[in-house]
Amino acid sequence: MNILAIESSCDETAAAVVRDGREVLSDCIASQADMHAIYGGVVPEIASRKHIEAIVGLTDEALRQADLAKQEIDAVAVTYAPGLIGAVLVGVNFAKSLTYGLGIPLVPVHHVRGHIAANYITHQDLEPPFLCLCVSGGNTLIVDVKDYTEMAVLGASRDDAAGECFDKVARVLGLGYPGGAPLDKLARTGDDSRYPLPRAHVEGHDLDMSFSGLKTAVLNLVHNAEQKGEKLDLPGLAASFSAAVSDTLVPRTLAAARMTGRRKVAVAGGVAANSRLRADLTAACRDAGLSLYLPELKLCGDNAAMIGCQGYYEYLAGKRAGMDLNAYATRDIALG
Ligand code: KG4
Repeated sequence: MNILAIESSCDETAAAVVRDGREVLSDCIASQADMHAIYGGVVPEIASRKHIEAIVGLTDEALRQADLAKQEIDAVAVTYAPGLIGAVLVGVNFAKSLTYGLGIPLVPVHHVRGHIAANYITHQDLEPPFLCLCVSGGNTLIVDVKDYTEMAVLGASRDDAAGECFDKVARVLGLGYPGGAPLDKLARTGDDSRYPLPRAHVEGHDLDMSFSGLKTAVLNLVHNAEQKGEKLDLPGLAASFSAAVSDTLVPRTLAAARMTGRRKVAVAGGVAANSRLRADLTAACRDAGLSLYLPELKLCGDNAAMIGCQGYYEYLAGKRAGMDLNAYATRDIALG
C-alpha cells in the first residue's frame, strides 16, 4: 500500500511516499528555518504562507522520487494536530483536495504519534508495546505505546517543552534559531559541572517535568554577568544546561519503564538528536537491562516519512477523515 504523507505543523513543509508503513520511497523536506532565524523564532503567519508556496512542488517531487503517479497512491496521511494552527491547516486542506480529486481515503495523523513512528523506520524490528520519551520543540511527553494506535501519557512538561527551552537558552547565548543543535555542539566541549543549575520536581507527580525554572536560571545568569561585565564560560554553561535537561528526562523515563514493566524504551522528536541525552539514555538503559531505540538523526526532526508510517497503522486501525476534518493546535496523543 502506497501512502502519500503531508506534514506542515511548524516550519518544515514535508511530503513523502511510504510503502506498507516502513519502506520510505521518498522523503522531501523544505525547511523555512532560515526565514524565521531573522526573527529569532517561528513567525506563524510567515510559516503558513511558506507552506502554501512549497506544498504543491514538494508533493510532485516526492512522487517523482518515488517513481509513482498520483493514481498509484492508495491513501493520503496528513498531520492534523498539534501545531501552529494556520500551518497545519495548509497541509490538511491540501490533503483534502488531493483525496477528493483522486477518490482515495484521507487519514489524519497526530504529529507526536508520527515522531514515535520514526523509530519503526529506523528499527524495522521494533513493535509495540514500548515506552517512548517524546521531546520536540512543542511537546515533552513520556508515552506508554501500548499498541500502534493505543497510547497513554504517563508524564509531561507542565510548562516549556524541552526543545523550546533549548531554543530560548541558545538565543540568549547568541547561537541563533533553531538553537538546539548548535548548543549541543558547544556543550560537547564544555565542563558540565561548571554552573550549578536547578532540576525541578513537580510535587506529587513524579513523572511530570518543568523547564521554565531552568530556563529562567540561565537567563538570569547571563543577564547578571552582562551587568557586571563578567565573561561567561559558554561551553561550560551549554554543558551544564544540557546536563540539567538530561537529568530531568532520563530518570523519569527509567521510572516510567519500571512502573509499566516495559523492557523497550524509544525516544522521539527533535531533541532526540541531542548527544548528551542519547549518551545518558544509552548508559541508563544498559545499566537497567532495557533495550533502547534511538531514531536516526535525520528522522528526529519534522519529516513526512514518519507521518506516512504512522498513517499506515492508523489506516489499518480503520481511521479515516472526511472533508470536515479540522486542524487542532493542541490535542491529546491518546485521542489520536
Ligand atoms: O521535532 P522538531 O523538529 O519539531 C517539533 O515537532 O517541535 O523539534 C525541533 C526542536 C527544536 O527546539 C530544536 O532546537 C531541537 O528540536 N533540537 C535539538 C537538537 N536538534 C534539534 N535540541 C537539542 N539538541 C539537538 N541536537
